[in-house]
Amino acid sequence: MKILLLGADGQLGYELHRACAPLGQVLPSTFSGLMPGRQRCAQADFAQPGAVAALVRAQKPQLVLNAVAHTAVDRAEDEPELAHRINAEAVAELAAACREAGARLVHYSTDYVFAGVTDRPWREDDPTTPLAVYGKSKLAGEIAVRDSGCRHLILRTAWVYAARGQNFLRTALRLAAEREELRIVNDQVGCPTPARWLASLTALMLASEPERDGTWHAVASGACSWHEFASAIYSEALAAGLLERAPRLIGIPSSEYPAKARRPADSRLDCSKLEADFGLRLPDWRVGLHEVIGELAEARVPV
Ligand SMILES: NC(=O)c1ccc[n+]([C@@H]2O[C@H](COP(=O)([O-])OP(=O)(O)OC[C@H]3O[C@@H](n4cnc5c(N)ncnc54)[C@H](OP(=O)(O)O)[C@@H]3O)[C@@H](O)[C@H]2O)c1
Repeated sequence: MKILLLGADGQLGYELHRACAPLGQVLPSTFSGLMPGRQRCAQADFAQPGAVAALVRAQKPQLVLNAVAHTAVDRAEDEPELAHRINAEAVAELAAACREAGARLVHYSTDYVFAGVTDRPWREDDPTTPLAVYGKSKLAGEIAVRDSGCRHLILRTAWVYAARGQNFLRTALRLAAEREELRIVNDQVGCPTPARWLASLTALMLASEPERDGTWHAVASGACSWHEFASAIYSEALAAGLLERAPRLIGIPSSEYPAKARRPADSRLDCSKLEADFGLRLPDWRVGLHEVIGELAEARVPV
């Protein structure tokens, strides 16, 4: 099977490259046409109308994995057209090209399509009311995939991090060297999810149920606030010898944190549909954190 992997240098794309190799021949594509190791690969700029559709037509894959997104949640408030272009319009073009080519599309979306507080984690069919540009553009992308008529699998995930790339964990480790004290939001809860787990899950879903279409929530089990996540990161990093000291953590409400984009207070996603349909469940977020810190400690990846 020929697999076109879009966004092969992002957090998730990098992990998908490895995880999906057993499924077929993976053809990576990036914005720059270069892989993280500087090897050449296919190129498509989602900001350019028609570019990703042309790549699908040229490569004729049977499966497309779309790990591309405008993920800078606050910056999206300043460049809504670009966010919408990458997260929605290009996705609509991609889905149409997949339908024409008969290719199956795996697409990723976000907890930020939801808003407010619930008494339980969000389910796939709960009403979506995104609060900010990023969530609105990602929701428009989801809808475009569903409306396109292409065979698809949409995974909504949250709080993604890895040993590489830009994420909360790496920022927290970097700030540990610079700050005595950190103020971290303690009234937003979610499910920190390692990109590697999400990639493995994708491969297992494709291998086990290749013809099933739909939308599933896919995050690590359990939940925590950003403040609890930071605290766990520093505990693990100290234990692994990645840090010699950790900053003092002060829990603050979101109202005291200067962010351009509003974020949902409750980002917990209910993954019982994933378990019922595929028999798959990601472990507790603390297990994932332990693994990623272990990976950093082993590789001594600079943060
Ligand atoms: N990160 C999270 O916390 C989170 C949470 C919920 C859902 N998600 C979803 O999970 C998926 C994967 O996210 P991630 O964390 O892996 O994001 P990421 O690390 O930011 O990767 C995004 C990828 O998109 C590429 N990209 C951005 N603009 C592009 C353009 N104009 N043309 C082509 N490629 C472009 C980036 O390339 P460059 O690096 O070259 O710019 C990068 O490879 C996305 O659908 C995201 O919305 C992520």
